[in-house]
Amino acid sequence: MFDHYIKLLKSGEVVAFPTETVYGLGADAWNLSAVKKIFSTKKRPADNPLIVHISSRAMLHPFAAEIPPEAKRLMDAFWPGPLTLIFKKKPDVLDAITAGLDTVAVRRPAHPLAQKLISQVGPLVAPSANSSGRPSPTRPQHVKEDFGEEFPVVEGGETQIGLESTVLDVSSVPFTIYRPGGISAEQIENIIKKSVETGSKSVGKQAARSPGTKYSHYAPEAQVRWLKDEEISDSNSVLYLLHTINPTNKAKNIIFFEENYEMMAHQLFDRFREADHQGYREVQVEPFTNLQLRKVPLAPAIQNRISKAVGPDD
Ligand code: TXA
Ligand code: MG
Repeated sequence: MFDHYIKLLKSGEVVAFPTETVYGLGADAWNLSAVKKIFSTKKRPADNPLIVHISSRAMLHPFAAEIPPEAKRLMDAFWPGPLTLIFKKKPDVLDAITAGLDTVAVRRPAHPLAQKLISQVGPLVAPSANSSGRPSPTRPQHVKEDFGEEFPVVEGGETQIGLESTVLDVSSVPFTIYRPGGISAEQIENIIKKSVETGSKSVGKQAARSPGTKYSHYAPEAQVRWLKDEEISDSNSVLYLLHTINPTNKAKNIIFFEENYEMMAHQLFDRFREADHQGYREVQVEPFTNLQLRKVPLAPAIQNRISKAVGPDD
């Protein structure tokens, strides 16, 4: 089966595969028609650029025009892993990948199946393998829900982290996080010994320089809201996701993560999709305090995905 997927990718088809974050929808990064198939399969707006996935440091060179020394240190520390770096791009990189920007996003995933695929096919562009706007897939079945039972998926069980990589722009100073993820701002700052800009401080720059961040994402059919005033009902139309509020009643519509934020990240998108399967009309999530956002490495990433699902009006 694996050889069949390699053949498909080499012939310009798209194939979904597991990474340690979420499943990706892969295509040969040097084949324009394959790259275009990604946009049509996902119904993704053409102005939202793609991440190039590599399996060795040498594979970076045809893409990145400049690699700052601090970026090298970050690669030493976090690659392979859930950190995407944005570099000034080389002229040959397809415009379809970068959406016409002068930068390119690159990541070296840690999943052995992803590495095996890339080392045999070459660099793959891979957005999350969901229809645009749906929660990212953390299981093969999620990919099939969005693209059909027959869709080619390299099966690798559940993904470990469950949220997409941290996206960090290293093409200009100060380095800027466009999307929080598995590697926190503090972990990055500890390596480069400089501060990085994050979401709220960089909103204008972000909209102009990381078009994907403006799109609403990750939403199930059920309405996602932040829980207000700790008001928990036993209504069977509302699913509650709690992390510190210990529910006295162990009702089946309450999921309590007991401050296990790895578990919350790991399950979040699956819980969103399950909420739809189980017919919930609303998912209410316990908000994060400022202290949690500062102290818990995964809290900004989890909060970011939930805020996107909530949308601008709540
Ligand atoms: O964990 C992940 O990153 C997963 C797995 C499959 O690797 N991939 C993923 O890809 O989440 P995608 O396409 O769903 O998200 C890519 C994000 C988007 O927000 C996009 O706008 C941003 O990265 N991006 C890509 N290239 C960029 C660039 N040149 N400049 C700024 N932002 C960029
Ligand atoms: Mg995505």
